[in-house]
Amino acid sequence: MEIINRRQRMSSVARKIRRDQDRSIGLVPTMGALHEGHLSLVREARRMCDVVVVSVFVNPTQFGPSEDFEHYPRDLTKDTALLTDYNVDYIFAPPMEEMYPKDFSTYVNVGGLSKLLEGETRPGHFRGVATVISILLNTVRPDFAFFGQKDAQQAVIIKRLVRDLAFDTEIVVLPTVREDSGLAISSRNLYLDAEEQESASVIHRALKQAKEAYKKGEHHAGKLANIVRTTIETEPRVRLDYVSIVDAETLDKLDKLDERPILIAVAAYVGKTRLIDNIVVNKAKKDAATSKS
Ligand code: PAF
Repeated sequence: MEIINRRQRMSSVARKIRRDQDRSIGLVPTMGALHEGHLSLVREARRMCDVVVVSVFVNPTQFGPSEDFEHYPRDLTKDTALLTDYNVDYIFAPPMEEMYPKDFSTYVNVGGLSKLLEGETRPGHFRGVATVISILLNTVRPDFAFFGQKDAQQAVIIKRLVRDLAFDTEIVVLPTVREDSGLAISSRNLYLDAEEQESASVIHRALKQAKEAYKKGEHHAGKLANIVRTTIETEPRVRLDYVSIVDAETLDKLDKLDERPILIAVAAYVGKTRLIDNIVVNKAKKDAATSKS
């Protein structure tokens, strides 16, 4: 395994792999602080691709001014040790000035989608994500790039970005990995103490209850949202920010639910920590997990 810090070196290594060796490349973009969620992406990349690149870069442009950029957990030594066990070929861990050189001034904005859901509370967040992903895809030019369904809106936005700007990469979205309690695994769970983690598991319970109600015939979005809301309210340590019921592909708000895949998305505060989670219903009818963009 090689750790690469320079964009140019990463590009030339990847070019050789593609052109001279005709081998496929899988990219797993991360901000480090690796956990089981990331490792499930790495495992699938290893299974599908000849060469696996994991990028580790805490991207400042996707953090708002009052968010946790400074305190976001960073431990490249630990991340490297983990990735060695997973037989990763390259870690791309660029310093700030490699990704954002002096006078950097080009940003990518996926219109519409970026303003919804998370975009309402985190203006600019998805512009930062779309920009850094564009830089990473242009640097590595992977055949496949891997993302988690936990960040459902991010996955939808990246698929749209890749389609609209004709990146030659297939986006693979893999299921959310959860603790035994149901809590979605996230780097930000590190901010929670044991009791808060236990309380936070109400979010997944609430989503599952809504899914069950849907399966039993409740197709009214407002009523499903109420199930999520009232279940979360039973846990005093958890404060709901929003529950939204939207088309899983367009993120359009829905009232009456039909046969299309539906995303029930939640954001909630546990103490000062903001967590997101979601569940997809009607998934079997049209599998939203993997899509050639
Ligand atoms: O999901 C994340 O960790 C980040 O948003 C990503 C995709 C690595 C971009 O910085």
